[in-house]
Amino acid sequence: MPSTPESFLPAMCEIAREAGTLLMTYFQRHIKIEYKGEADLVTAADRASEKLIRERISARWPEHDVLGEEQGLNDQGSEYRWYVDPLDGTTNFAHGFPVFCVSIGLEHSVPGKPAGRIAAVIYDPTRDELFSAEQGRGAQLNGDAIQVSQIANLSECLVATGFPSHKRHKNPNIYFYHQITLKTHGVRRAGSAALDLCYVACGRFDGFWEFNLNPWDTAAGTLIVEEAGGKVTRFDGTSFEVNSRETLASNGLVHEALISEFRELFAGRGLEPLPELSEFKR
Ligand code: IPD
Ligand code: CA
Ligand code: CA
Repeated sequence: MPSTPESFLPAMCEIAREAGTLLMTYFQRHIKIEYKGEADLVTAADRASEKLIRERISARWPEHDVLGEEQGLNDQGSEYRWYVDPLDGTTNFAHGFPVFCVSIGLEHSVPGKPAGRIAAVIYDPTRDELFSAEQGRGAQLNGDAIQVSQIANLSECLVATGFPSHKRHKNPNIYFYHQITLKTHGVRRAGSAALDLCYVACGRFDGFWEFNLNPWDTAAGTLIVEEAGGKVTRFDGTSFEVNSRETLASNGLVHEALISEFRELFAGRGLEPLPELSEFKR
């Protein structure tokens, strides 16, 4: 039986809750950390969660494609593609810092049109917060409608960013972190891009950006932001899609201001110098 967009979300919520509950059983034990790269961690929990999510998806929609962080792409040529981050915030998880989630996004492509994100769910099992959205039907937190914030001045914003765990030396974000910190109420770096996007959607943050995120980090969260009334683009304001590798999300009202800060930063203009160490000691 073909699935209608409306029929996906209840099952997605069920799967995300089940995976989140599984993550908590690992979180409460002390589990072994393994390394994918120098500071790029993976645990048995990442793998077990992805296995569970894939099993649940293929039991319901065996013909659909799935791209998951740990197992890669299962491409069967379907018009539906699932983006699965079985544990977003692995470094936090591995250190016992309770900021992590499960992220599941669903994309649908119609011939002759760009693929569209149609449904999303992100579950934070530590707070029992389930964020969800369907294209054209709004976004929710635990079933209640959510909206982005109404703050229109960048100087009054609380924003968020993140840093990758691989190729860290090639990432310029520390400069952006410095500059945007000086222009806002502050920049948080909590370690889960999917939750950062949800927090923009429900108004806890007014904006978020990150370089080089992967489709499984952003597919669900960007739809949740858009359905909550926010905006998601690349750093220059052009259209976002899951392979963009530039993610700029906001409440919409401060979007232009953020794009303008990014333009200046990329051009190397108006950079505040770091204070001299001698100055700092005074
Ligand atoms: C990471 C988190 C983090 C972000 C990194 C991601 P992972 O995902 O979302 O906030 O800064 O770029 O790789 O590895 O914990 O799934
Ligand atoms: Ca991730
Ligand atoms: Ca992950």
